[in-house]
Amino acid sequence: MSHVYLSRELTPGAMAALRSLDLPVVVHDDPDRPPSRDRLLRDAAGASALITLLTERVDDELLDAAGPDLRIVANCAVGYDNVSVAAAHARGIVVTNTPGVLDEATADCAFGLVLATARRLVEADRFLRAGTDWIWGPQLFVGLDLSAGATLGIVGLGRIGLAVARRAAAFGMRILATGRRAAGAEAAAYGVEQVELPRLLAESDVVTLHCPLTPDTRHLIGPDELAAMKPTAILVNTARGPIVDESALVDALRRGEIAGAGLDVFEDEPRVHPALLEMDSVVVLPHIASAGRATRDAMGRLAVDNVRAVLAGEPPRTPVQA
Ligand code: DGY
Repeated sequence: MSHVYLSRELTPGAMAALRSLDLPVVVHDDPDRPPSRDRLLRDAAGASALITLLTERVDDELLDAAGPDLRIVANCAVGYDNVSVAAAHARGIVVTNTPGVLDEATADCAFGLVLATARRLVEADRFLRAGTDWIWGPQLFVGLDLSAGATLGIVGLGRIGLAVARRAAAFGMRILATGRRAAGAEAAAYGVEQVELPRLLAESDVVTLHCPLTPDTRHLIGPDELAAMKPTAILVNTARGPIVDESALVDALRRGEIAGAGLDVFEDEPRVHPALLEMDSVVVLPHIASAGRATRDAMGRLAVDNVRAVLAGEPPRTPVQA
């Protein structure tokens, strides 16, 4: 029987669920680093299922290396821009992702970045740790008030965007949004106003990105869009790095076209543009938005359950459509 290949060890709960399927399992032996490309191609050979992460490029080469037994690529992430879905479907291979189970964790992190950047929390923490002489002052680390009618612009109001809207509504923010759910009943309950991107950029104090990375959204936020934002505005990205033209973002921050950025994702991960690391107005995180314990467990279990279903001849739970 051909094996299930995992490019990284998942949570103990997800691994136990996988082992209970009583299938041969091959797990990449370094829990902290992805396999090299050569190693991936070698270890995937002959697999019936691949459980991949966003660090693996799943393309013609990998699918050919896996061979004719491969029936499913279960990507353990909601985003699947690393997977050539067309190449998989052309071979009759199912592709699945992990939607739904990470919405709240991702929204928590996005809103954490909104707060940290708007209220300069990380900058203030660094200031104290540096042993700086200080005393309370009326202008010490003043930032953007979120609850005083600030406007949040949500680009891509899907499941995660809606979870962010819920948090923003609780803070009393005015909410603008683009995206398919922006006109729905739940969005209306949070006071979301559906708008086009130009108006969202012009009127928002904080712009937060929640759209998938597709050919249409690559560099959706470039020089013109950044210039269209308020000079006091903040950009938050917990979606995918290439949605923002990172060099243009650096230029916009340098020129004061926008006031700050909270970034969990980068254009060329794991590289971070060195200029971003030097700016006090920028908060950077190493792509951890879904990194809640229960959330990561749920993602792993869902990926495993998709493998179980497909290998048992059942429909996958969360298939990616063509
Ligand atoms: C995703 O799920 O797409 C995140 O980026 C990783 O959890």
